[in-house]
Amino acid sequence: MGFSAMVKSLLLATLLLGAIAQARCFTFNFPSFNEDNEKDLILEYSVIKHDAIQVTDDVTDASLLKNLSGRALYKSPFRFGSKSKDKASFNSTFVLNISNKTNQGGEGLAFILTGRTDLPQNSHGQWLGIVNESTNGSATAKIVAVEFDTRKSYPEDLDDNHVGLDVNSIYSITQQSLQSIKLVSGDNITVKVEYDGELLKVFVGENASTLVISETIDLVTRLPEKVYVGFSASTGNDTQLNCVKSWEFSGLDLYKEDPNLLWVWIIVPAVLVLFFVFVFLYWKWKCKGEVPVEEVEDDREVEICIQGSSTAPRKFRLEELKAATENFKNKLGEGGFGTVYEGFLENKAVAVKRFSRDAREGKQDFIAEVTTIGNLNHKNLVKLLGWCSERNELILVYEFMPNKSLDKFIFCNQNPGPETDQITLNWGKRYRIINGVAQALDYLHNGCEKRVLHRDIKASNIMLDSEFNARLGDFGLARTIHCSDQTHHSTKEVAGTPGYMAPESILTWRATVETDIYAFGVLVLEVVSGRSPGDQSKKNKYTSLVDWAWENYSRERILDVVDLHLNGDFNKEEAECVLILALACCHPNPYQRPSTKTALRVLTGEVAPPLIPKAKPSFMWPAMEPPSFNEDSKDYTFGGDQPSPFAEPSGR
Ligand SMILES: *[C@@H]1O[C@H](CO)[C@@H](O)[C@H](O)[C@H]1NC(C)=O
Ligand SMILES: *[C@@H]1O[C@H](CO)[C@@H](O)[C@H](O)[C@H]1NC(C)=O
Ligand SMILES: *[C@@H]1O[C@H](CO)[C@@H](O)[C@H](O)[C@H]1NC(C)=O
Ligand SMILES: *[C@@H]1O[C@H](CO)[C@@H](O)[C@H](O)[C@H]1NC(C)=O
Ligand SMILES: *[C@@H]1O[C@H](CO)[C@@H](O)[C@H](O)[C@H]1NC(C)=O
Ligand SMILES: *[C@@H]1O[C@H](CO)[C@@H](O)[C@H](O)[C@H]1NC(C)=O
Ligand SMILES: *[C@@H]1O[C@H](CO)[C@@H](O)[C@H](O)[C@H]1NC(C)=O
Ligand SMILES: *[C@@H]1O[C@H](CO)[C@@H](O)[C@H](O)[C@H]1NC(C)=O
Ligand SMILES: *[C@@H]1O[C@H](CO)[C@@H](O)[C@H](O)[C@H]1NC(C)=O
Repeated sequence: MGFSAMVKSLLLATLLLGAIAQARCFTFNFPSFNEDNEKDLILEYSVIKHDAIQVTDDVTDASLLKNLSGRALYKSPFRFGSKSKDKASFNSTFVLNISNKTNQGGEGLAFILTGRTDLPQNSHGQWLGIVNESTNGSATAKIVAVEFDTRKSYPEDLDDNHVGLDVNSIYSITQQSLQSIKLVSGDNITVKVEYDGELLKVFVGENASTLVISETIDLVTRLPEKVYVGFSASTGNDTQLNCVKSWEFSGLDLYKEDPNLLWVWIIVPAVLVLFFVFVFLYWKWKCKGEVPVEEVEDDREVEICIQGSSTAPRKFRLEELKAATENFKNKLGEGGFGTVYEGFLENKAVAVKRFSRDAREGKQDFIAEVTTIGNLNHKNLVKLLGWCSERNELILVYEFMPNKSLDKFIFCNQNPGPETDQITLNWGKRYRIINGVAQALDYLHNGCEKRVLHRDIKASNIMLDSEFNARLGDFGLARTIHCSDQTHHSTKEVAGTPGYMAPESILTWRATVETDIYAFGVLVLEVVSGRSPGDQSKKNKYTSLVDWAWENYSRERILDVVDLHLNGDFNKEEAECVLILALACCHPNPYQRPSTKTALRVLTGEVAPPLIPKAKPSFMWPAMEPPSFNEDSKDYTFGGDQPSPFAEPSGR
């Protein structure tokens, strides 16, 4: 580039920037939303689905939708001029659709202006994703919110259908009940928020025609200089879908200090820097070919995910994993979702799971899921070390398990072959494995902040470490990957693996705590009997392992179920106790199955196994809740949400 051309472009750029600097407007418009808009937004526990932003992800399973908070912010902040005489102003119009998932309706949604992009921890329920217990009422929250509150959470709340203006607190400085307009109706509700520099007005209604809030407020002093705008929402015990279907924002930030000084001291150096950056990029592009576009997108994902502690899984670059696995050379195994390779990171062996092409669709869900499961830490879970989602790849990195999966050991009599390890697991090891799986499951169900359902408990998902301790793998991921797997769409994949599926899952298509327990029961039968549930039809007149075991129990010969390979060398009381527990877990009525807590207590000998009927009861649907039912931790899984409309498989 010649010198004169350089000067010309410099002048042109300066003029352009000058024009922008003078106008100082900040506008954007989303007439509707689609997946491409993900790059324009900062989504935290929010997704774009069905042409709308859904603040707090819309998941099929109501128990996972409970107690969540989320935010969706426009990716770039705007600035209020601090020393201005002219007032900054903006108008924002958006269409909300809040529809209830439980009969009570959930918590609500808010339009927010905030200096902070990070969602406060524990801001679910009453906090609306605005503040949490420690930031409520504190200036560090740096947030002004227009709340659309659909629940009377405090005596100070007017009712369960009001609009309020909140400043750094969940208590509104002013609020107004909506009479004829019902927020939780599933209808379009158009809202206009108007700020002229002094007065903040909120209009609601079909055409945003009803004025509900009119309050004098100096946003410039309430907010930091850099402000993000967007939405937050939360769910509690009761849930709802919070959709934003369209959103328009136009702001005029009219601060003009001294245009001439500004021109000289800010714009010119900025242009020079920009110009050299441009020249540098151009030069780089010429030498190196294409500029990697993905990088920009990836930053957003990182922002979502960096919330955990130092043990949280990290994001890996594809290049890093290619190097670690010598370009995916040593295959460890292959499964429904993809292939597992051996790799070395910092001289430590790792298992690298690379998803197949079919499984890569649900990328956004996948990342949300990684953030949930990544923080789980238990001695009986395979630890997730990190993930990679670059170009078209989805990859998970787990710690390496030197021994193989459980199925390789317990079914050795059934599939003899070169792969078979001829060690028969002795009773002590089998008991320890069962105990380990129960502990892992109890941790997933009751021990972590958010309940995690495993959804696919089976022998091949249980790894054994060098001391034959059970390590449960693949937790939580089955759902996100399967739902988007268009090519093999079937019931089986929604709820697990045949043979391990509870009878009701064929009807409900839902994974629940009880379907996990059922699969656990089948697994226990497998470990004790050394038979796989899949092979029963060939070897046996009974179609399922459960039927066969129960039949033996009816004939008072339950110990006949125990693997013959043990040559009678096992603890009879333990075996009987474990088998009865397994049958109780496989009870056709989900209400009659014990909780993981109870199962664990039975295994540690604290309580006797549950009583089970002599003959296997037949499967009835809808299942009856027994009158004497009062077991703790179960009530909310089978509480109000059971007969709700989203038990159907349709759609989401
Ligand atoms: C949600 O949080 C409330 C308290 O804030 C708690 O009582 C309830 O059990 C939680 N529900 C779930 C599903 O975690
Ligand atoms: C906001 O809307 C009002 C009324 O429609 C209009 O007078 C004002 O100029 C608008 N302000 C901005 C920043 O667009
Ligand atoms: C929620 O929807 C159900 C029907 O799906 C309806 O019966 C119930 O009244 C609704 N609740 C509220 C608070 O709108
Ligand atoms: C509130 O959120 C902040 C920021 O995310 C966090 O540091 C703090 O621990 C949270 N407080 C509670 C009570 O969860
Ligand atoms: C939230 O903060 C306000 C002060 O802004 C305080 O009056 C109120 O008690 C707090 N609410 C809760 C539930 O802690
Ligand atoms: C609101 O959202 C619900 C759930 O996504 C949908 O069924 C309903 O049709 C929507 N309403 C309108 C007016 O678009
Ligand atoms: C609801 O709003 C969306 C987006 O603004 C629009 O496309 C749709 O037609 C509206 N639906 C109804 C029933 O008004
Ligand atoms: C909203 O606007 C439309 C078109 O401008 C009009 O037909 C409709 O009657 C208006 N609704 C209300 C409640 O004012
Ligand atoms: C949520 O439900 C649990 C038990 O199901 C109850 O203890 C708690 O008080 C409820 N929380 C709210 C905020 O309603």
